[in-house]
Amino acid sequence: MLNGKIIVLGVSGGIAAYKAVELLRLLTKAGADVHVIMTRAAQEFVTPLTFQTLSRNPVHTDLFELMAQGDIGHISLADRADLFVIAPATANIIGKLACGIADDMLTTTAMATRGTVLLAPAMNVNMYGNAIYQENEERLRRHGYLFVNPVKGDLACGWEGEGKLQTPEIIFQEVLKALTPSDLVGERLLVTAGPTREEIDPVRYLSNHSSGKMGYAIARAAWRRGAQVTLVSGPTALPMPWGVTFVPVESAGEMYDAVMALVGECSVVIKAAAVADYRPVVRAGEKLKKRGDAMTLELVKNRDILRELGKEKGSRLLVGFAAETTELLSNARKKLAEKNVDLLVANDVTEAGAGFSVETNIVHLLYRDGRVEAPGILSKEAVANLILNRVAALRSEQEG
Ligand code: CTP
Repeated sequence: MLNGKIIVLGVSGGIAAYKAVELLRLLTKAGADVHVIMTRAAQEFVTPLTFQTLSRNPVHTDLFELMAQGDIGHISLADRADLFVIAPATANIIGKLACGIADDMLTTTAMATRGTVLLAPAMNVNMYGNAIYQENEERLRRHGYLFVNPVKGDLACGWEGEGKLQTPEIIFQEVLKALTPSDLVGERLLVTAGPTREEIDPVRYLSNHSSGKMGYAIARAAWRRGAQVTLVSGPTALPMPWGVTFVPVESAGEMYDAVMALVGECSVVIKAAAVADYRPVVRAGEKLKKRGDAMTLELVKNRDILRELGKEKGSRLLVGFAAETTELLSNARKKLAEKNVDLLVANDVTEAGAGFSVETNIVHLLYRDGRVEAPGILSKEAVANLILNRVAALRSEQEG
């Protein structure tokens, strides 16, 4: 995900410095080449050796250290960085950056950076609320510095409140976003994902094998690309994606209501959910008791959410999915036409490497003009970005 990216990770002196170790691990695992700069105070909390071992790069602590080798350390790092992250960023570091003070390796390199700087503050709740700190943060924001807000919690100083460093996983998500071109700014995406559950009685339901992975990958990718994303999800085992508005639902009926309530504000709808086509006519109030050797469950059709959306589409872009086990393209073509969608993503869920639960997918993209694209096997992340590329292209066609 971050192959070929050079990230400078600045660590300043707060108790949360140990969490920067975990952030470094996430960055290197994703393929980034990370160069760590530590302030003098940071070294009181964690040793440079830890960061050096995990980054496999020398850790920079001294402004003058590289000059002897003919390489002006802070300038060369600043020039090469795709992104400069400071986590944790203390009130002191933020104050210095806001006032243009460059008196150590970290502040000097940060000031010399022309690329994006992402700051993850961590400090005492009263320091965080201090008007001078807030003015400094505001000033840096105005100059294009990005922030990952701290969270509420028990602080090391004994106080409780806002000031705790955001989790390394979320800072990592913000790093991915900062490194992704924002080509979907202004789009309001509604994504549905996962299966639905149609209750039979208080202990049983009808459902399907959808894991939600495809829809969640689309929601995450769209958020990184700058869209405002709402994810309406049936029950899944996946973590809630950061940065998106999450609307959990259970049944197809609940998904229908949620989608219809939200769609008015959305410019794109991507229906990756595997919605149950039928539900029991009656949901028993008590657990159904075992009786004869056979039993019949009477089902009634659920409303087709996508079909309803297709009826009053306007300029909204509609992306549908088709989960098939046979005659992929002819079934998909029928769905594209009948549901009036702009793009239909079809996959044969029985094919190895495609469909539910796995990390990859083999999709065919069908367009209204009859074109079909078959990109072959891709990660769900890559399929998500491909779909979003095509959504962006359809939007340009519409506008141009
Ligand atoms: N869909 C929907 N509401 C339903 C059923 C399906 O919005 N009640 C949407 C799905 O989210 C998907 C598309 O319609 O984007 C196609 O779903 P799929 O299950 O492949 O097809 P169905 O239309 O249900 O037809 P069939 O089950 O006969 O293949």
